[in-house]
Amino acid sequence: MRTLLAVHVALAALAQLGGATTTHSLDLSDQVWRLQNLPLNISVPGSVPSQVHLDLYKAQVIGDPYFGLNDFNLRWIALSNWTYVSAIEGLEPPSKTANLKTYLLFNGLDTFADVSFCGTHVATTNNQFRQWRLDISDVARACHAEKPELEVTFASAPDMAANLASQPDAETWPWGIEGWFEFPHRAFIRKEQSDFGWDWGPAFAPAGIWQKAWIVQVPEDNVYVPNSVLDIYRHGQLNNIPPSQDTDWVLNCSIDALNSFPHGAQMKYAIKDAAGHVVTKGHLTNISNAGDVISGSTTLDATRYKLWWPAGMGAQTLYNVTVDVIRDNKTLASVTKRTGFRTIVLNLGEISERQLAQGIAPGNNWHFEINGHEFYAKGSNFIPPDAFWPRVTAERIRSLFRSVVAGNQNMLRVWASGAYSPDFMYDAADEMGILLWSEFEFGDALYPVTADFLENVRQEAVYQVRRTNHHPSLALWAGGNELESLELPGVNRSAPDQYDRYLHEYETLFLETLLPAVYGNSRSITYIPSSTENGYLSFNWSRPIPIIQRYNNKTEGSLYGDTDHYNYNYSEAFDLDTYPVGRFANEFGFHSMPSLETWREAIPEDELYFNSSTIMLRNHHYPAGGLNITNYDNSSKGMAEMTMAVQKYYPTPNKSDPIGNFSSWCHATQIFQADFYKSQIQFYRAGSGGRERQLGSLYWQLEDIWQAPTWAGIEYSGRWKVLHNIAKDIYQPVIVAPLFNQSSGILNVYAISDLWKEVNGSATVGWIGWDGRRLNHTVGGGQGSASAFGETTLQFTVGAINTTLITSINITKLAETEGFNAKDCLFVANLTATGTPINSDATKTYQHTNIFTPTPLSEASLIDPGLTVRHKKVQGSFEVIAKNGAAAWTWLRVSAQDSSVIVAFEENAFLLKKGQTKTVPYTILSGSSPGWEGRVTADSIYGLGRPD
Ligand SMILES: *[C@@H]1O[C@H](CO)[C@@H](O)[C@H](O)[C@H]1NC(C)=O
Ligand SMILES: *[C@@H]1O[C@H](CO)[C@@H](O)[C@H](O)[C@H]1NC(C)=O
Ligand SMILES: *[C@@H]1O[C@H](CO)[C@@H](O)[C@H](O)[C@H]1NC(C)=O
Ligand SMILES: *[C@@H]1O[C@H](CO)[C@@H](O)[C@H](O)[C@H]1NC(C)=O
Ligand SMILES: *[C@@H]1O[C@H](CO)[C@@H](O)[C@H](O)[C@H]1NC(C)=O
Repeated sequence: MRTLLAVHVALAALAQLGGATTTHSLDLSDQVWRLQNLPLNISVPGSVPSQVHLDLYKAQVIGDPYFGLNDFNLRWIALSNWTYVSAIEGLEPPSKTANLKTYLLFNGLDTFADVSFCGTHVATTNNQFRQWRLDISDVARACHAEKPELEVTFASAPDMAANLASQPDAETWPWGIEGWFEFPHRAFIRKEQSDFGWDWGPAFAPAGIWQKAWIVQVPEDNVYVPNSVLDIYRHGQLNNIPPSQDTDWVLNCSIDALNSFPHGAQMKYAIKDAAGHVVTKGHLTNISNAGDVISGSTTLDATRYKLWWPAGMGAQTLYNVTVDVIRDNKTLASVTKRTGFRTIVLNLGEISERQLAQGIAPGNNWHFEINGHEFYAKGSNFIPPDAFWPRVTAERIRSLFRSVVAGNQNMLRVWASGAYSPDFMYDAADEMGILLWSEFEFGDALYPVTADFLENVRQEAVYQVRRTNHHPSLALWAGGNELESLELPGVNRSAPDQYDRYLHEYETLFLETLLPAVYGNSRSITYIPSSTENGYLSFNWSRPIPIIQRYNNKTEGSLYGDTDHYNYNYSEAFDLDTYPVGRFANEFGFHSMPSLETWREAIPEDELYFNSSTIMLRNHHYPAGGLNITNYDNSSKGMAEMTMAVQKYYPTPNKSDPIGNFSSWCHATQIFQADFYKSQIQFYRAGSGGRERQLGSLYWQLEDIWQAPTWAGIEYSGRWKVLHNIAKDIYQPVIVAPLFNQSSGILNVYAISDLWKEVNGSATVGWIGWDGRRLNHTVGGGQGSASAFGETTLQFTVGAINTTLITSINITKLAETEGFNAKDCLFVANLTATGTPINSDATKTYQHTNIFTPTPLSEASLIDPGLTVRHKKVQGSFEVIAKNGAAAWTWLRVSAQDSSVIVAFEENAFLLKKGQTKTVPYTILSGSSPGWEGRVTADSIYGLGRPD
C-alpha cells in the first residue's frame, strides 16, 4: 500500500489540466479483500490470487482440505456461491479521470463470475482460462465513492454445469462418452476438467480470482499491454513441417493493447544475451497496426545465436528480446520476453524410401525433432500438482523439475484437462531443458459446438498461445486427451449411426477452431488434434485446414501413431506380446500406494491400514461407468488389483506390527508398479532399433495432486516412489535390457542407446545364485559368441539411437537342463560402453546393470543377503554392503521418525551381488531432521516377506 501511495503522489505532480498523463496500474493483490457467503453467515479475509477453499482454510473456517475425508465433507463449498469484495484504494480521483480509460484486467477468473464496480454490474464471465479485459471507464467516471467497491461473485461450478446440461437445446452424447468421476457435465464448462474429479484426484471444484488482477488507468493517448506473442522460426518455416536448419531466423512480434496504438507507430527491438550484451538491435518491418494489436518482423542472422537444447543434448542458451512500440520518438509500450533459438517439430511425415531401406515399417513417422535432429523422448505425464493452483509456487515447480532432470527425463506431456501452465513453469523448463508437450484443456469427453462455446474456446486458445509461444521449452500443441483413442471409438461403438455427426463436431472444434488459433499466432509449433492418434492422412498448406486426420484408415502392416496402454490384468504385466507396437508411447501405467510417511500427512493414525475407508475412498480407479456413491465396493477394484499383483510377483508382506506391515504393503505395490513400467520402457526403447522405429516413452504419471493410490512416480510430498528411481535408471542414455518373450521362451539381451553417435562396449552376462554362487549355465548365441558357459563377456556396437541384440537365451530349454533350478538364480547383465554425449566432443564411459529372474520373486528361494548401511560423512553418501547373498530391489529408506526430511538417493531399488559394496550419494529435496543420516536403513526383496 505504501508504494502505491507514493506512485499516486508522483502522478499527481505530473498531472496537467486535471488529466493524468501516465498509466496507473493497481495490483489487486495489494488491496484488502473479504470473502463472503451471506446465506451461510461467513465473512473472512480473502486474497488475490486465491480460491475459496484456501481462504476458508487460512481463516480456520475449515480444516485442511486434503485431510481425511474432507474431499467429501467440503462439497458444500463447491455447491455454494461466493463473493470476493474489496473497497479499492489508490485509484485516480474522479477529477483526474477525464482523459483516462479505466480497465479491470483479470488474468483468470475461476469460473462463473459476476463482476460489479461501484455498485454497477460490469461483466459476467464463463471461462477459467481467458484473460478478461473489462473497460469500466464510464462506470469509474460516474463513481463518486472514495473507495469504490469491487465485487466478484462466483456461482457454483457444479450447479452451472448441471444447469447448462439441462437446457432444452443442450448437446447430448451417448452414455459413457464423458468420463465422469464425481461431479457430472464438465464438458459444458471451460474450467479445469479434473476439478470435477479424476481417477487420480479429488473433486473440489474450487472458485476464486485465481490469477493476478489489476485495475489499469490509461491516458487515452497511451496504451497498456495485456498480452503479446514472440515467434522465432526459421525463414520459410511452416507449422508441422520439419524446417531447413540452414536459413536465418525470423523474429515476429505482435503486441496487444488496452486503448489503441496510434497511426504511424513503429516497433524497434533489441536482443541481449545472458551477459546482458546486445547481440543485435534495429527496427521491425512489415508493421501492421490494427489499433488493439500491432505486429512486425525482422530477419536475424543465424550465425549470431547459439541454439537452445533440451537436457542431455546441450546447453539451454537463452536471450532477452525487448520490443518497443514508438511514435515520434516516444516509447508507448515495451515488452521483454526471454526466449531461445530452436526448432521443435513433431514429424508426422510419410516413411521415406530411405527409411524403408533401413528396415523401418511403412506408414508415417510420429516423433519429435529438435534443431533438425530426431531424438528419443524420455519422460512422463504432468498433471496439476495441486487441486488449488494459487498455492503452487515457482519454487515448488523448480523442485519438481530438478527431480525430472535428475530422473534423466527430457520431456513432459502436460496433460489436457488441467490448466495451462503458468509462465514460471515454462521459465523453469526453459532453464532446465525440459520440453513441455502442451495441450488445450479438453479430455475424455466430447464437447459442445454452439457458436458461443466455440468463440469462448477460440478466445481462450488465442490468449494462451500468444502468452506462451516464446518459450523454447514449448514442444507441441495438442487439442486434447485421448479424443481419438477413446472418445471417437466410444461413439462408434455405442452410437454408430451417429458417428458422422459427432466426428463432424469433433473436427469443428479440434481442427477448425483450435488449429487456426495456433497457426494464426505461431509458425514455430506443431498442432495435432488429439494426444493419442494415428497422425494425418494428408497435410497440405493449400487447404484452409491443412490437416486431414487419418483416424482408423490404416493399411495392414503399416505403422502410424503414438500409443496409450493400460492393462489392469496384472497376470499379463510382463507379457511383452500385450504391449503396443507403435512409433511413440505417450501414456502407460499402473497405480501404487504412496509411502507410509506421505499417508501420515493426510489420514488419521487409525486409518493406516490397507483397505481402510479413507484409503479406499481415495482410490478412484473405478470400474467403467464411474463412481457409484451407494456402492463403495467400486473402490475395491483398484485396491484388489494392487494386492493381487503383489501376491503374484513378490514375497507377500507379513509383519506383526500393523503399521510396519502397512508400510511394507505400500512399498510392495510400488515395486510392482516400477517393475511393470521398467518392462515397458525397455521394450519401447528397444523399439528404436525395430521396424517400428519407436522414438519416445512418456509414462503416466510424473507426480501426484494429493496423497492417494495413483499412477504417480513422485508423491505429493515430493518423495520419490520406487518408480521414479527405476525410471531414472532405465532412462540412462546407454542401457542393457533383457527382454523375455513368454510365448517363445527366449530371453533377448539388448544394448540400447539414444546417443547420436555409435557406442562401443561390452556386456558381461551370466547367472548367479541368490546365495552368491556363480552358476554355469548356457548363455546363448549373439554378436561375437555362439555359446558360452558361466559369466560371459560379449562385445557390441550400437548405432545412433538404436538397439543391438547382444545375445539370446532359450529359457525353456535351459529350464530342462539338469541342475538348473529357476527358483535359485537370477540373470545379471553388466554393460560398460564408451560413447559421446549428444553435442559433445569428449568421450564418456557408460555403465548399466539389469537383471532378469526366471521365476517370479514370490517363488524364488531368496536368502538373507545380510545388508548393512553406513553413512559416509565426508563424501555425503551412504555405503551399502550385501555380505551373505544377492539383494534385489535394495531400498535405502529414511526412518519414519525423520519424515520431515525428504531425501533423493542417487540410486535406489538396485541389485547388490554377494559381497558387493555400493556407494550411494544423496540429495536433500526438502526439510531437515537432525541426525537422520544415522537412522537410514537398507532392506531388499528378501525383507519384504519376512515376519519382522
Ligand atoms: C447461486 O446463485 C444463483 C444465481 O446467481 C442462484 O440461482 C442459486 O440459487 C445460488 N445458489 C446458492 C446455493 O445460493
Ligand atoms: C533477461 O532479463 C532478466 C530480467 O532482467 C534477467 O534476470 C536475465 O538474466 C536476462 N537475460 C537472460 C538471458 O536471461
Ligand atoms: C527522433 O529522434 C531523432 C534523433 O534524436 C531526430 O532526428 C528526429 O527528428 C526525431 N523525430 C521526431 C519525430 O521527433
Ligand atoms: C483412406 O485412405 C486412402 C488413402 O490412403 C484414401 O484414398 C481413402 O479415401 C481413405 N478413406 C477414408 C474413408 O477416408
Ligand atoms: C450402485 O450400487 C447400488 C448398490 O450396489 C446398486 O443398487 C445401483 O444399481 C448402482 N447404481 C449404478 C448406477 O450402477
